Amino acid sequence: MSNETPPVLISAEDIGIRVDELAAQISEEYRDKGDVVLIGVLKGSFIFLADLARRLTIPRTIEFIAVSSYASGSISSGAVRLVMDVRGNIENRHVLIVEDIVDTGHTLSYLIGMLESHGPASIRTCTLLHKAESAEVDVAVDYIGFAIGDEWVVGYGLDYAEKNRTLPYIGTIQPDDRGEETPPSGQRNRRSLFQRLSDRFRSHP
Ligand code: PRP
Repeated sequence: MSNETPPVLISAEDIGIRVDELAAQISEEYRDKGDVVLIGVLKGSFIFLADLARRLTIPRTIEFIAVSSYASGSISSGAVRLVMDVRGNIENRHVLIVEDIVDTGHTLSYLIGMLESHGPASIRTCTLLHKAESAEVDVAVDYIGFAIGDEWVVGYGLDYAEKNRTLPYIGTIQPDDRGEETPPSGQRNRRSLFQRLSDRFRSHP
């Protein structure tokens, strides 16, 4: 991968403004519900979750959950595996799942189904980035920071091969920057783009 700094897709300033707006909206809509349990999906959501949680004006607690996808080579099967469950009891509590990105929707769909089995009072979903045109399953996203196209994005928690997670903004990586690396496991959004690009290059050499 190139060592160049990824070009800006969404600036740190614009992210800050949007996170403020989301926090205000969520605080308003949960004002009469009491405590909300924010469940951050590791790893990508950790920066968004930290910023969002600190801007809320309602009682909240923090949990984390980790998943990975089953894959065959560079192709995601869409199946998701639980790596780490929440620690606290979420029964009869209001849950807000916090994602950095929803791409195919498989991860969020799996998480909603899995967390429903814990008996929460409600489950809503929040993501910083939403790739609507990449959806493979129909999953409701209640709070969306930014709708983006079919782009390969890094920064503000999102990585490519564990690089660029701590960029303060959302940047884009171009296909030419991927070098000869095979996308690692657990990179469904980037991997699916990689696969589509590979397919395109194969059919149009
Ligand atoms: C990303 C992101 C979501 C998931 C979305 O995680 O954090 O959890 O992909 O993709 P989907 O909608 O196609 O299921 P990733 O697998 O890259 O792991 P990471 O958060 O640990 O980087």
